[in-house]
Amino acid sequence: MEMESIRDTYSLGLKPQPKSVTATAEWRRLKVHARHIAKMHLRDVLGVASRCEALSAEFEGSFLDYSRMQVTQRTMDLLYALARRQRLREKIAAMCRGDKVNVTEGRAVLHTALRSAPDDAPIVVDGVNVVEDVHEVLRKVKAFSEAVRSGEQRGATGRLLRNIVAVGIGGSYLGPEFVHEAFSTEQQHAVDQDLNDFYRLRFLSNVDPVDVRRTLYDLDPQETIVIVISKTFTTAETMLNARTARQWLWDAMGKDPSVVARHMAACASSSAAARVQNFGIPPEHLFEFWDWVGGRYSVCSSVGALPLSLKYGYGMFDRFLAGARAVDIHFQHAPLDRNLPVLMGLLGVWNMSFMGYKTRTILPYAEALLKLPAHIQQLAMESNGKRVTVTGEVVDYDIGPVDFGEPGTNGQHSFFQLLHMGQVCPAEFIGFIESQHHLHVEGEVVASHDELMANFFAQPDALALGNTREQLVAEGCPPELIPHRTFAGNRPSLSLLMPKVNAYYLGQILALYEHRTAVEGFMWNINSFDQWGVELGKKLASDVRSRMHKFRSGKGTLSGGLNPSTHGLLKRYVIRDRD
Ligand code: F6P
Repeated sequence: MEMESIRDTYSLGLKPQPKSVTATAEWRRLKVHARHIAKMHLRDVLGVASRCEALSAEFEGSFLDYSRMQVTQRTMDLLYALARRQRLREKIAAMCRGDKVNVTEGRAVLHTALRSAPDDAPIVVDGVNVVEDVHEVLRKVKAFSEAVRSGEQRGATGRLLRNIVAVGIGGSYLGPEFVHEAFSTEQQHAVDQDLNDFYRLRFLSNVDPVDVRRTLYDLDPQETIVIVISKTFTTAETMLNARTARQWLWDAMGKDPSVVARHMAACASSSAAARVQNFGIPPEHLFEFWDWVGGRYSVCSSVGALPLSLKYGYGMFDRFLAGARAVDIHFQHAPLDRNLPVLMGLLGVWNMSFMGYKTRTILPYAEALLKLPAHIQQLAMESNGKRVTVTGEVVDYDIGPVDFGEPGTNGQHSFFQLLHMGQVCPAEFIGFIESQHHLHVEGEVVASHDELMANFFAQPDALALGNTREQLVAEGCPPELIPHRTFAGNRPSLSLLMPKVNAYYLGQILALYEHRTAVEGFMWNINSFDQWGVELGKKLASDVRSRMHKFRSGKGTLSGGLNPSTHGLLKRYVIRDRD
């Protein structure tokens, strides 16, 4: 795409933006303000009741408390002013109506359309109403999953298809796996618990042979359906794993076209349809999604719908979509200061670009959200780990924090030492009022969920308030230990307290984080929807792969163009073959 065209698309027909956002008065005001905030200690302000009321927002019972962020109402007002300057609302609207905001790939970004209702107003991309397309594929997923679960659709040898192996990587894996982990403990709400226990869903993502072995070793191919999930249907690791799984099916049932036709399906972009067919998967087993769905934003498309509906029934997935849709509507219409994903995004910008915190941790106090941090890691870091603005200027401000996380309380016994005493790392605590499972052991004073949540409430205060020298002296701490046991505090966090872990609220969490990511990108003037940074590694791996191949088949040498370090390492590796 020509630069002028990118500029036109991104300026949304409005006044051109200044060269760098840092040149705006709004940015400069925030920079000055950050110097004042650096002198504020959360210990001195957290006791003010009005602060908590002002620095919180609620949507459908999900309560966001950001009073432990290093902000004041003035900070928020300045951030809203920057959001207006950055035309945040217009960019959100442009994204949701299908403008091609992914300017470097010339694509719309419409994961919100994946959660639209069938009778929603048309969203037209290149002359096509994508709402209709979305519902056509969802109907196909529903029909197929019901046919498999009812036994109407069986394997090539007539057996029920009870094992679902989802082959995919990156965005074609992390989202579905996060949702699967959370759904798997929410079975009391599932359509039919016995059926759900009967079906097994596994993910094969890594090309490591060990991953292949541990995914397939105890499965009966005759009872297995393999879903190849790949937007491009070209990703090297996925395609090798797909061929491996196909061979595994052939080895068990013979190399008959009906084996692939009955035991394999694909979730791929419509533009990859020919590749899917060449692989042997018939068109009726292609569950398409579209170029306007980014890989890391794809869990609401067939990418998540097919494996999760096969395992849990379509109804569960539908409730997940409904939760995401509710947040989509909130995101598009709630005022900035009541808008949960906008607030989370603005706070992300504040922490990174103004307070200089280069890391961020997500801490779900719910084992069901075990895989949420890994999903957010890809979502946020592939989206906002960028070098240049949408119009190609090198960014001269801090963007894109390093995201990591772990469920609580496990994380407390792992990396929390650093959160409390090492470098400052803003934390996001996610907790639930109601657990998926009620457990109260006779004779125990507290139920397990209360114990979990006691930590959810205590940790943010420990981070914010710390523990002073005076407190330690009063507690009788030996003088030589006082420096070691002093907590400086003033460590920012936000708390998101939600009603319960179920499919609906999981959909909300997903959409909250997707939109938080987009808000940050819009504020930073970057394109959160491309991922050119992953290309170079793929290209170099392809070169190494072909060298290994040539060397092993006696048709070439390893060296020639490789630096001595890579050559030396590679030589050590291939020499293994000669032993
Ligand atoms: O390499 C990164 C990436 O392109 C991700 O953006 C994407 O989600 C993943 O690889 C898988 O791609 P595909 O779905 O095309 O196999």
